[in-house]
Formats: sequence, structure tokens, C-alpha cells
Amino acid sequence: MKRIKLPVHIAFIMDGNGRWARRRFRPRAFGHRAGVQNMTKVCAHAFKIGVRIVTVFALSTENLSRPKEELDELFELFRVYFCKKKERLLEMQVKINVLGDISVLPQDIQDDILEMTEETSCYCGGLMNICINYGARQEIVRAVNTAVSYGRFVDETSFKDLLSTSGIPDPDLIIRTGGEVRLSNFLLYQAAYSELYFSKKMWPEFSRRDLERAIENYSARDRRYGNIRG
Ligand code: FPP
Repeated sequence: MKRIKLPVHIAFIMDGNGRWARRRFRPRAFGHRAGVQNMTKVCAHAFKIGVRIVTVFALSTENLSRPKEELDELFELFRVYFCKKKERLLEMQVKINVLGDISVLPQDIQDDILEMTEETSCYCGGLMNICINYGARQEIVRAVNTAVSYGRFVDETSFKDLLSTSGIPDPDLIIRTGGEVRLSNFLLYQAAYSELYFSKKMWPEFSRRDLERAIENYSARDRRYGNIRG
């Protein structure tokens, strides 16, 4: 990769697993399995080239209304990656952090997640946030209610501390695959000044080289944060 300005924090909306599978006349679960394999490949590459924080949208609050069979397949993938084959996540040597309300998951998966977050808490190769049953509007409403329950007014700094991303810098770059051009209730508060990159590729086919192209594109942008020069 040529000399470029690297984002500190990249967030991914990993869209297109279902369509990728359908085009191959395979069930949606086949797409999700390919999707999670690609997630470890692309995220490992991001850390390797020097990105410090990666956030992935694994399951939105709205995704929970999908058919039970699809949710069971996704839960099984969590079981595999957080327990049975957890070395696939562990080998990245990064801290794993889960954002969202995981109380809706089967108890064994919640336990596996807790174990993995504890096991990786001393890893210093980077930070990987995995968003599960995460919704940005719900996150904002919860933060407002917390402030109200404390009887406090908030400013931007104290409000950020009430979000699930407290202490984590906002994403510099948000990449969405699958051809849709929207944020779908992902990190709405944190994305105020994120650079957005949309790829027509389906998530399972988004390659390491595609990631580098997205970063090169980011690197060439002028981030002015409302000012007149970056
Ligand atoms: C969107 O594609 C993708 C999801 C709803 C799930 C993404 C989840 C993973 C890649 C697995 C994460 C696993 C772990 C262990 C963190 P879609 O199904 O909406 O695709 P479509 O738009 O083509 O139907």
C-alpha cells in the first residue's frame, strides 16, 4: 500500500450476505457463514496494516425480527466464533468488546461472550467492537434516560460517556458493502464526522484489497469538520 493517512477507527456494515448466497442458489445461512469468515479476514488485515479500532455490525436490533431459522443460524455462528472455534478471533490478538443488549441471546452465548471479553482484555494489538442487538436510536434514548435519572444536564462530552462507545474515539471511516447507501441505525451519534464509503460488493466478496482501496479513498479526502481547511 502506498504511503497514506490511516484511519484510527474503521466501522463496517457487513451487508449483502443473503444476496451473495442467493446468487449461488444457496441458503442465506451459507452467506452468513461466508460473511463471518470474511469478517475475520478483513479485520485481521485492517489491524495488520495499522488500524487500531475496528467495529462490526453483526446484528442490529431490527434484525431480531428476522425469521427464527435465520436467527438460530446467526446465533450458532456466534456460538462457533465465541466458543468452539474462538481461536479464529483470538489469533488477531486484539481486545474484543461487545456493544448492544446481549440479554436477548441464549445464556450460553452470553457466557461465551463474557469469557472472550475477559480473556482478551489484556490484548493490546487493537480493539474490535462487535455490535450485537445494537441500535443507535435505542442507544441514544437509553443515554438520555440515564441522564434524566441522574437529574443532570449533559454536554457533548458527558453525553458521549453515556453511550456504549464511551471512551472509544468516533469512527473515522464507515464502510458499507452490499450496494445500499444508508447507515441503518448504526452509530448515528458517533458518525457525525465519519467519512462514509459504500461498496457495491457483497460482504463475503469484499477483499483485503477492497479495504485498502477504501482506505486510499479516505486518505485522499479533506476532513474539515465544518471549518474551511482540514
Ligand atoms: C447483513 O446481510 C448481515 C447481517 C444481518 C449479519 C452479519 C453477520 C455476520 C457477518 C456474522 C457475525 C458473526 C460474529 C461471530 C460476530 P443480509 O443478510 O442483510 O444480506 P442481504 O441484504 O443480502 O439480505
